[in-house]
Amino acid sequence: MSDKNKLYVTKPSLPDLNEFISYLESIWESKSLTNNGKFHQQLEKEMADFLKVEYVSLFANGTLALLTSLQVLRITGEVITTPFSFVATTHSLWWNNIKPVFVDIEPNYCNIDPEKIEAAITPQTTAILPVHVYGNPCNIHEIQSIANIYGLKVIYDAAHAFGNKINGNSILNYGDLSTLSFHATKCYNTMEGGAIISHDKITKQRIDYLKNFGFADETTVMAPGINSKMNEMQAALGLLQLKHYNNNLLKRKQLFVLYETKLQDVKGISLLKINSDLSDFNYSYFPIFVNKKDYGISRDDLYSLLKKHNIFGRRYFYPLISQFPTYRGLYSSKPSNLPIAHEITEKVICLPLYSDLQEQHIKKIVNIIKNES
Ligand SMILES: Cc1ncc(COP(=O)(O)O)c(C=O)c1O
Repeated sequence: MSDKNKLYVTKPSLPDLNEFISYLESIWESKSLTNNGKFHQQLEKEMADFLKVEYVSLFANGTLALLTSLQVLRITGEVITTPFSFVATTHSLWWNNIKPVFVDIEPNYCNIDPEKIEAAITPQTTAILPVHVYGNPCNIHEIQSIANIYGLKVIYDAAHAFGNKINGNSILNYGDLSTLSFHATKCYNTMEGGAIISHDKITKQRIDYLKNFGFADETTVMAPGINSKMNEMQAALGLLQLKHYNNNLLKRKQLFVLYETKLQDVKGISLLKINSDLSDFNYSYFPIFVNKKDYGISRDDLYSLLKKHNIFGRRYFYPLISQFPTYRGLYSSKPSNLPIAHEITEKVICLPLYSDLQEQHIKKIVNIIKNES
C-alpha cells in the first residue's frame, strides 16, 4: 500500500515551491542566514499585525519557546499545569528544574479546571501553565483572578491557538506570556518553529536577549541564555505561509463542518464543543470522544479499525503526561486527583483534518465510524 493512500491525522500545508525560491535566492545573495535577519524581522512584524498582538519573538520551535518563557519570568519552585497536553508542556518545567503540579481538566473543553487550581497552590507555587487545548480558550478570567490573589504568573501554552480570538481579541493577549508552535503538524507551520507573545517592550527585549545566549550587546551577557533563534529559511517560509493562511483556514472550516454534520447524531460518539465566545477559530483538530457502552466498541477498537482502513487518527492526548515514568511518582499524578483527565484520555481520537483533505475522505472515515462501509 503506497503512502499516498494513507490518511494521517494531518498533512502539512506548503506553498508552491516556486514562490519560495525567490526568498531562497535573497538569502543566498545576502548570506544572512540567522541572528535576527531581514525575514526574521519582517515576520515578527507581520505576524504581530496578523495575530493582533503587541510583540512576537520568533523561536526555532515551540518547546524552546516554552523553556525560555519560564526563564524570562524567572519561574521557580512549583508550577500548576494540566496533564492533558503534549509532553513538551511539562518537560519545559522539568528542564527548568521546576516541579509540575497537575490539576484536573473540565469535561467541556478539556482545559485545566480553574475551580481545582486553588487547592493545589503551596508556598512554592510561582506560576500557572495552562494549555488552550484544541484551540478552545481556557477560563482566562478565573485563572487570572486566582493568579492576582496569590501573586502568580500565568504562561499559556497556546500551541493549538494560532489565530484564535475571543470577541475579536486574540487569546494570546491574556496571561503574562503565551507560547506558540509552528511545527509541521500545526495549522500554521515554518517546518519547525515557535514564538513567545509578550505585551510590553521591556519583556520583548528580555526574551530576545535570552534566545540569543543572553547577549544584550557585543560584550554584555545579561543572563545565561540559550540559542533558540529561528533562522532565515524558517522565517521566509513563515512569511509565505501567512499569505496562504486564510485560504487554508477556510478549507479546514468546511471540512470541520462536514464532519460535524455527519457525526453529530452517532450514538456513543461525542464531538468537541467550540466555545461560543470565540469570534475566530482555527479548526485545527477534530477530536471525537468514544463512549464504549453506547457506541458498542472501545476507543482503541475504533482506532485499530480505522488503522485497518489506512486511516491514522491520533489519540491526542493519550497517555496523560502524569502517566509517563518521569512524572507518575508525583503526588499530583495520582489518578484519583485527575478523574476527568483519565476518563477523557481513554475516549479521544483526533480524526484527520487538514486543508488538502477531500470531502470523499471524510465520507469514507464517517462510513467506517458509522459501520456503513
Ligand atoms: C500543546 C503543545 N505544546 C508544545 C508543543 C511543542 O511544540 P514544538 O513541537 O514546536 O516544539 C506542542 C506540539 O508539538 C503542543 O501541541
